Amino acid sequence: MDLGIAGKTALVCGASKGLGYGCAEALVREGVNVVIVARGAEVLEAAAKKLAEVAGGSGNPFVKHVAADITTEAGRAAVFALGHDFDIVVTNAGGPPPGDFRNWDREAWIKAVDANMLTPIELIKATVDGMAKRGYGRIVNITSSSVKSPIDILGLSNGARSGLTGFVAGVARTSVAAQGVTINNLLPGAFDTDRLKGTMAGSAQKSGQDFDTVWEARKKTIPAKRFGTPAEFGAICAFLCSMQAGYMTGQNILADGGAYPGTY
Ligand SMILES: NC(=O)c1ccc[n+]([C@@H]2O[C@H](COP(=O)([O-])OP(=O)(O)OC[C@H]3O[C@@H](n4cnc5c(N)ncnc54)[C@H](OP(=O)(O)O)[C@@H]3O)[C@@H](O)[C@H]2O)c1
Repeated sequence: MDLGIAGKTALVCGASKGLGYGCAEALVREGVNVVIVARGAEVLEAAAKKLAEVAGGSGNPFVKHVAADITTEAGRAAVFALGHDFDIVVTNAGGPPPGDFRNWDREAWIKAVDANMLTPIELIKATVDGMAKRGYGRIVNITSSSVKSPIDILGLSNGARSGLTGFVAGVARTSVAAQGVTINNLLPGAFDTDRLKGTMAGSAQKSGQDFDTVWEARKKTIPAKRFGTPAEFGAICAFLCSMQAGYMTGQNILADGGAYPGTY
């Protein structure tokens, strides 16, 4: 299916690897120009090179990269200094650390809220009116299945991302829906990325089991009996950015291999 978005320009955050990279690659395959962002310059550069190859190496679509912390004002300013009018924005940054809420002080909460709620809101604020003026825009926030089904050790994520979810539910409907702009949240369950490997390594250490045992046991808890791939996640993201998805807004789309047990 031609998604009808060739020639559009996308900002994809947290895109040197994992789910963000999967989204960037799927968009490039559709002929979308991309600006990718992550903090670590070396991995980001390698990702940009790989994407340029996917793009066919002609510079059309273009692939640019900005090594920056997207959760800071300076990081966002570096991205907007490129001067692009973004048609598509994929918001994403690392998830907050696991732990027990009894040990989190105000600073820990502010950090989580900054990264997983206020940063996407700032990015929406900076781009949504331009999108509305041009009559097309797509914002996809990478959140988490924890928004629908909280994960006990990820209280910082449960809380901060729920704040974003409530905000998006309002802004998607009230301010820009009539101008061709959609804002949706894409909720990953368990996907095979470094983040998941890190979490599983932590669980293995805590329980005294080896990594492979914990990894395989976790898979068995998912109805699909496997982890998702960044490419699968990216394909859903690209569809949400398509012309065909113009009537879908303010939604929370779960991609979790059937793990969420509810009917609705
Ligand atoms: N994978 C899963 O199973 C899963 C499940 C539920 C939710 N999630 C959430 O989905 C998001 C993506 O996860 P992932 O699995 O793709 O993680 P990942 O493999 O660790 O990749 C994270 C990417 O974001 C970048 N990043 C992190 N913090 C950043 C910042 N402050 N500014 C700019 N870039 C930043 C990282 O590069 P640098 O570190 O170099 O900046 C990297 O490119 C996270 O919020 C995670 O909590 C993932």
